[in-house]
Amino acid sequence: MRIFICGFGTVGQGFAEVLASRKKFLSERYGKDIIIIGAMDSRTFACDPAGLDPLSLVSRKKETGKVGGKEYSDPRDVLSECDYDVLVEVSPTDIKTGGAGLGNITCALERGKDVITVNKGPLALRYRELMDLAKKNGCLLRYEGSVGGAMPIINLCTEGLVGEKITSIRGIFNGTCNYILSKMDKGQPFDQALKEAQQLGYAETNPTNDIEGYDAACKVVILANSVFGRDVKFDDVRITGITSITDEAVAMAASRNMVIRLIGEVTESKLEVGPRLIPKGHPLSISGTLNTAQIITDLAGPVTVSGRGAGRTETASAILSDLIAIADRRLRTDGKSLHL
Ligand code: HSE
Repeated sequence: MRIFICGFGTVGQGFAEVLASRKKFLSERYGKDIIIIGAMDSRTFACDPAGLDPLSLVSRKKETGKVGGKEYSDPRDVLSECDYDVLVEVSPTDIKTGGAGLGNITCALERGKDVITVNKGPLALRYRELMDLAKKNGCLLRYEGSVGGAMPIINLCTEGLVGEKITSIRGIFNGTCNYILSKMDKGQPFDQALKEAQQLGYAETNPTNDIEGYDAACKVVILANSVFGRDVKFDDVRITGITSITDEAVAMAASRNMVIRLIGEVTESKLEVGPRLIPKGHPLSISGTLNTAQIITDLAGPVTVSGRGAGRTETASAILSDLIAIADRRLRTDGKSLHL
């Protein structure tokens, strides 16, 4: 199976490293290597049908700032020139327009290629359209890492809990906000906590997307569409961020044995992100950067899942799980004539 990586920042590099670290496991599982045949950053690309060494790509990017030796002006030219089986789309998220990621994903799906992405913009703006395109062309679009990074919520709901009637999902879907609110619990000022979250590499390039609740809203949209079968977009979410939460409000919550957390909530009819009072000791009262979600089901009752919502290797682990799902599906459908 030949992979092309679009976007070679932290997540793209992390994925290349994870693929290198799982080389033996993957080749034993499938009987053949899974190779990277191409990679692209915002200006340059590398492509070799025989395969590129993942760790050399990472070193070159670190040393030169470029993933490849050739420049391009239109990513579609590159994606048409290089033949691949799976596109891993991890270019920077653009919540307003979908950014380059939207074009890259569309281009791959139009060509009948499976796509894995963690890019929230295209999914929050055009989920239904992209899924319909994938279906029409007989390919898969998987996006486990787009909600909660390494927290395995999408596949848990759509595969593990597929027989359940899920009535609601409430969760902490933004590590930056949770970090800030946890620090405010301890008396630290908002700005200082935000700066620390940025230093930890959690915050978005534009942290407004975190603190205004836009990042969590994208995740809530993705859950509503994929788990509840709804057809909603970013603009449909009722969003309140955490910028107007005062030290006094945090202290008041503490005096009632509560904490304030930014909670995303999805049901058949609800689609909200906003600060909520959570009793101390409740699974959603956690402190720090972890993401946590409580899934309410009819048969299994409440199921709580938690994990690291961002990070180089953590997000790459979610991409790896999607890659394995795609390779397993090929194994099932192609049987002995496995195209790997
Ligand atoms: N900026 C996000 C967060 C991480 O703070 O949780 C990626 O979605």
